[in-house]
Amino acid sequence: MSRPTKFTIDLLALCENAATLKRLAGSRSTMAVVKADAYGHGAVACAQALSPLVDAFAVAIMEEAIALREAGIELPILVLQGPHSLEDAQVIAESALWPAISSEHQINWLEQSGARFEQIWIKCDTGMHRLGFMPDDVALAKQRLAVLSTKDTVLMSHFADAEAPDSPLTERQLSRWNELTASSKDTSFSNSAATTGQISARENWIRLGYSLYGGSLVTLPEPCRLKPVMCFESCIASVRSIESGESVGYGGRWVANRPSRIATIPAGYGDGYPRAARDGTPIGSEHGVIPMVGKVSMDMVTADITDIPELDVGSPVTLWGGTPTIDTVAAYCDTIGYELCTRITRRAPRQFHPDTGHQD
Ligand SMILES: Cc1ncc(COP(=O)(O)O)c(C=O)c1O
Repeated sequence: MSRPTKFTIDLLALCENAATLKRLAGSRSTMAVVKADAYGHGAVACAQALSPLVDAFAVAIMEEAIALREAGIELPILVLQGPHSLEDAQVIAESALWPAISSEHQINWLEQSGARFEQIWIKCDTGMHRLGFMPDDVALAKQRLAVLSTKDTVLMSHFADAEAPDSPLTERQLSRWNELTASSKDTSFSNSAATTGQISARENWIRLGYSLYGGSLVTLPEPCRLKPVMCFESCIASVRSIESGESVGYGGRWVANRPSRIATIPAGYGDGYPRAARDGTPIGSEHGVIPMVGKVSMDMVTADITDIPELDVGSPVTLWGGTPTIDTVAAYCDTIGYELCTRITRRAPRQFHPDTGHQD
């Protein structure tokens, strides 16, 4: 098998990012969010690498938590969506998971299970209006859940617009949060953007996802720069010269306005490179950035290499990770880096460095 397209996952960069973020976290405990297969980076490999560095993990759904337990992950795991049934509540207790509880249904299931839970997190709706107890209902939920939880319950909420610390929405959420948590010791509000953007919320836990993987939402000062963990790489497989006026790819979207050299790279939307990528989306090479041109195919993308004669068949290219960053590519596709990394497919292998022996 020789297609040179692969995702390399730099576990050392992941650990360095965790160490950097822990410094930003100060005395707060750190929860690593490894849902959606650690944002496409490989949940088991990432959780194993992060276990010595963080205090707990968070996943969205039970299946993700069970897979980590089966792989031997022993740290606490918060299930952000909590149980979806009474049976789920029983499995949560048996697997020593932490449920995040956001509705009366879920409280009922926990009570009916007859189990005791190591720690229960209570999701409060401070303004996202997606999940959670409205502020007036939190006290009763807390009272019912406290007797089911071995450790003190934790109040949590989630920012709807953490990238905008001064927005009215963020201010509204913070003010509701301050009221709700005035007499609570165990609390958690911040995600990556709130932590790196230094929103100051009352809390003793932060929940970090995207930043751990090196995704950048704000420009941090040099010592706090985060390193990209995923690199999407390939090599040029074919080069052709076309006349001015000829088009490239499906629908003839891109038309050469000069005699051009076109490189074909064997990676496409079937691997997770977004079909929405616009002409000009940057692709990295050893000799400089080249513009992606023409519509992305299922198995291939094309780039204009006219200005870089050194590039030829076999030249390595970077689709994202380093130059360009995943956030840069996402901006050319009218999306966010979160979507790109969680939508990579399993056709191209993930290679972990250092090698963990994980097979994809
Ligand atoms: C409830 C909750 N907390 C924390 C996070 C982590 O967010 P981020 O990846 O922006 O750090 C997420 C991610 O979506 C989430 O849903």
